[in-house]
Amino acid sequence: MIAVTILRREPGHACPAADPEREILHVDCASHTYADGSVGIHDMCFHVLRNEIVALCGPNGSGKSTLIEHLNGLLTPSQGKISVEGKPLSEAARSGLWRVVGVVFQQSDDQLFAPTVLDDVMFGPLNLGMGREEAEGRAREALGSVGGEHLVGRLPNYLSGGEKRLVSIAGILAMRPRVIALDEPTSDLDPVHSARIEELILGLRRDFGIGVVIATHDLDLAARIADRICLVRKGSVFAEGPPEEVFYDPDLIREAGLELPLGIRIYLDCCRGLGISPEKRPVRREEIIAALQEISPARQGR
Ligand SMILES: Nc1ncnc2c1ncn2[C@@H]1O[C@H](COP(=O)(O)OP(=O)(O)OP(=O)(O)O)[C@@H](O)[C@H]1O
Ligand SMILES: [Mg+2]
Repeated sequence: MIAVTILRREPGHACPAADPEREILHVDCASHTYADGSVGIHDMCFHVLRNEIVALCGPNGSGKSTLIEHLNGLLTPSQGKISVEGKPLSEAARSGLWRVVGVVFQQSDDQLFAPTVLDDVMFGPLNLGMGREEAEGRAREALGSVGGEHLVGRLPNYLSGGEKRLVSIAGILAMRPRVIALDEPTSDLDPVHSARIEELILGLRRDFGIGVVIATHDLDLAARIADRICLVRKGSVFAEGPPEEVFYDPDLIREAGLELPLGIRIYLDCCRGLGISPEKRPVRREEIIAALQEISPARQGR
């Protein structure tokens, strides 16, 4: 029997630090209502640890982007608190919040403004006080790591949606912050660039211990790379836990208005078809293949 460690949050509960040693960002019961009265987030509790990939999963309009826009101070909560490395966000902002938190927005147009791609990606490093040569080195390296080196002299305005996304990601990577939040990071990328960005996200955690947040309704992506899944509904995280638990709770996924990742659906359908109860909880591709091989009639001598 696998221990269930899904945390369900009822409105009004306190949200203490989950792991104070590793915690970089803490959102404590934050709410934000837009000028027209729409509720962006409500009583939102969320945290990001060093060295983890956390996925914010929820349907359209559930508050994922609004939360992400709070993480770098673009929006401020009307109620509740946000702290960065134990300090209130406003205090962290005075000493250079972008050194700690980098955000790639859902709309890349919100992020790109310089005359050329190289200028755009160099902007962050220059702002961190680097000389031109070092900043250019950082920018070229970041563009290379997203597969966008060929875009270096282009005008950001005339790039395709996917190219803009790659340049936006490079602009944040070039600053090497401790947390990177990516809003729908692969939604407009082709399969090759998507795979590259997924690899990059895994490398950020593995090689640099960076905390990565991805906002997505693509549960297949979340299943492939996330360590923790936060389910968002009506402006708050109502349940969270490791993928092997959250994705094996179909009621929870239904409540979130989402669908199980394809691989897990196939595994559960095969178990059902064979009349056996699923003994394992495979999530990643290789785990699913191994689990399917184990239950295959040929292997079981049927
Ligand atoms: N600038 C704005 N002005 C007014 N309401 C807004 C604004 N931005 C977002 N909202 C509203 O806030 C709520 C949360 O929106 P948000 O963009 O955070 O959702 P999301 O989970 O990112 O959705 P999606 O998956 O479509 O990107 C929605 O009801 C949305 O209509
Ligand atoms: Mg969004």
